[in-house]
Amino acid sequence: MKSIKVGLLGIGTVGSGTFNVLKRNQQEIAARAGRAIEITMVADLDTERAKLLTNGEVTVVNDAKLVVNNPDIDIVIELIGGYGIAKDLVLQAIANGKHVVTANKALIATHGNEIFKAAQEKRVIVAFEAAVAGGIPIIKALREGLTANSIQWIAGIINGTTNFILSEMRDKGLDFDVVLKEAQRLGYAEADPTFDIEGVDAAHKLTIMASIAFGIPVQFNKAHVEGITKLQATDIRYAEQLGYRIKLLGITKRTPGGIELRVHPTLIPSKRLIANVEGAMNAVLVRGDAVGDTLYYGKGAGAEPTASAVIADLVDITRLATADPEHRVPHLAFQPNAMADTPI
Ligand code: HSE
Repeated sequence: MKSIKVGLLGIGTVGSGTFNVLKRNQQEIAARAGRAIEITMVADLDTERAKLLTNGEVTVVNDAKLVVNNPDIDIVIELIGGYGIAKDLVLQAIANGKHVVTANKALIATHGNEIFKAAQEKRVIVAFEAAVAGGIPIIKALREGLTANSIQWIAGIINGTTNFILSEMRDKGLDFDVVLKEAQRLGYAEADPTFDIEGVDAAHKLTIMASIAFGIPVQFNKAHVEGITKLQATDIRYAEQLGYRIKLLGITKRTPGGIELRVHPTLIPSKRLIANVEGAMNAVLVRGDAVGDTLYYGKGAGAEPTASAVIADLVDITRLATADPEHRVPHLAFQPNAMADTPI
């Protein structure tokens, strides 16, 4: 069977991780997907670096439109980030009938409704496992593993940068600014770390999870967002003395008045599992009416953990793309009776 041809937009940390893992595990991945998956084209402004990272094995261009308009490309991976050019390229890829994989939580949380509508009209898939909690397959868990459940609430540590900062401040007594610089050096933080430390990145991810869990459109603008910039070392120390840890949690919950969406520092008893998630690790706790509580833990950022999620989407799409398009289930299935307009 013909291989699936993939075009990659942006070959930074996650892009090169995706290229390497896809190559390293190509036989296993092909066996699971039912056919070979190969990145044949990469767009990046730094073409020399892109050629080096791909060992001269793929076509490298500096104009991403050449990838999304190339009729030979079946799936476009968008790893540019942000809402501007990334949105135009994703919509163009969809208009051209291509499936899309993205790690762009900001894009999905703010423009997801428009993007999914366009995808549904063109009967293509937009997949975004890598957008939430990096390598943890939480989108798949919510959409598939827990599909029998009425989800009651989700609470998660879904930003590695802030969890790293809080852990280091507590363990080493270091200052906020010093630890933030270290998080940037280690590649956890966003290009503009404001989104991390002000809770915006966590709110993007929470918005996406709530949409799937409760069948509502993405509504980032309804989220209450508070970061960790007002926390001081003394807050962390006092909490510790009282038997608590401070974590930046994203919480979404069904209530009689609607769906709550909130991100803020939270006191958690030190004995709870989630209070002991340290460093840049992520953890998501989900309560379903049938299953009870389930906990998902793993690396929320980094080259290969995020690549793991990107490639899972590639495999998923490769399997689904061979199915009859009439019977495909959209990745965001809004429920007619969901409490769409009542987040609080
Ligand atoms: N800046 C993000 C974090 C990267 O710290 O979790 C992964 O989304």
